[in-house]
Amino acid sequence: MDITILALESSCDDTSAAVLKNTVMLSNVIASQAVHIKYGGVIPELASRAHQQNIIPVVDAALKEAGITVDNIDAIAFTRGPGLLGSLLVGVSFAKGLAISHDIPLVEVNHLQGHILSHFIDLPDRQLPHPSFPFLCLLVSGGHSQIVLVKSPLEMEIVGTTIDDAAGEAFDKCAKVMGLPYPGGPVIDRLAKEGDPKAFRFAKPHVEGYDYSFSGLKTSFLYTLRDRVAEEPGFIENHRADLCASLQSTIIDILLAKLTKAAKEYKINDIAIAGGVSANSGLREAVTETGRRRGWRTFIPELKFTTDNAAMIGISGYYRYLDGDLSSLEVSPVARLEELNR
Ligand code: KG4
Ligand code: ZN
Repeated sequence: MDITILALESSCDDTSAAVLKNTVMLSNVIASQAVHIKYGGVIPELASRAHQQNIIPVVDAALKEAGITVDNIDAIAFTRGPGLLGSLLVGVSFAKGLAISHDIPLVEVNHLQGHILSHFIDLPDRQLPHPSFPFLCLLVSGGHSQIVLVKSPLEMEIVGTTIDDAAGEAFDKCAKVMGLPYPGGPVIDRLAKEGDPKAFRFAKPHVEGYDYSFSGLKTSFLYTLRDRVAEEPGFIENHRADLCASLQSTIIDILLAKLTKAAKEYKINDIAIAGGVSANSGLREAVTETGRRRGWRTFIPELKFTTDNAAMIGISGYYRYLDGDLSSLEVSPVARLEELNR
């Protein structure tokens, strides 16, 4: 029997709705919020308001594009967390309203597991490559940097995680001090192409096991700017591409060192990357190249599945629905991963 899922994602500053028929994505509509650009970061209160304005038109468009109506939906999947509480609340409340009014079951999804399972979305005209279980996923988003051992669509174990900032935060905060627009990751990616990755050296962390740390790198970047600007007032403008290239290559080195260690020690050859930072062209190349040398099968997501989207919530919801893991109408959003319990 075919299962049709309507999925909603509203954890940060993108309002998204998608329709999946089993694992096949029929639509994936994303409204990005431009209101935050002038503040250089996401303003939570403005994000919730924009979600409220966007959610109905986005869901309508997703249903239309998929060629279905609300009556065809078997389950509504939604992001329960982690994310901004006010933003999550809009998606959760909308999901509940629709569930009550049309008597449709609800399925809650962990946003981070959604990023990982985006590797299992198929397109109407082609199958995308799927990793085999168990595989390791480097999950790098704006708020999280983790190495996850994925045993099945429902069973994941966090092997390593950041003890302070996430990789995405390192990109965004360093971009901000260089006067670059938000989000900084894609801008640094573009500028880095023109620069020399060996021009500057920044601190690399020494953390035990598989955990990450990026706050030392951020501080070292900041101190370099401070010291060099004192000697040369136009330093940032004059060396922007080199700064971006050196910062990006340091972040990639840090990410890959632990990923490589985990792959070796867990003896796993299927290696995936996911999350917003997996859009980074340098990281994509470095993972592919390392994989070639080490005999990995590497899984690099299509760009549209790297940053926040509802299709990834839909695929996670699909597997939970198959498992009979439905949510009650009492479900409430949670901001932090630790409160999510799944
Ligand atoms: O997964 P995501 O869309 O949202 C969260 O769940 O946080 O990730 C957003 C993060 C931001 O930090 C953004 O700067 C980063 O992904 N990002 C990139 C690139 N595209 C997005 N970082 C580096 N290079 C990129 N091309
Ligand atoms: Zn995300």
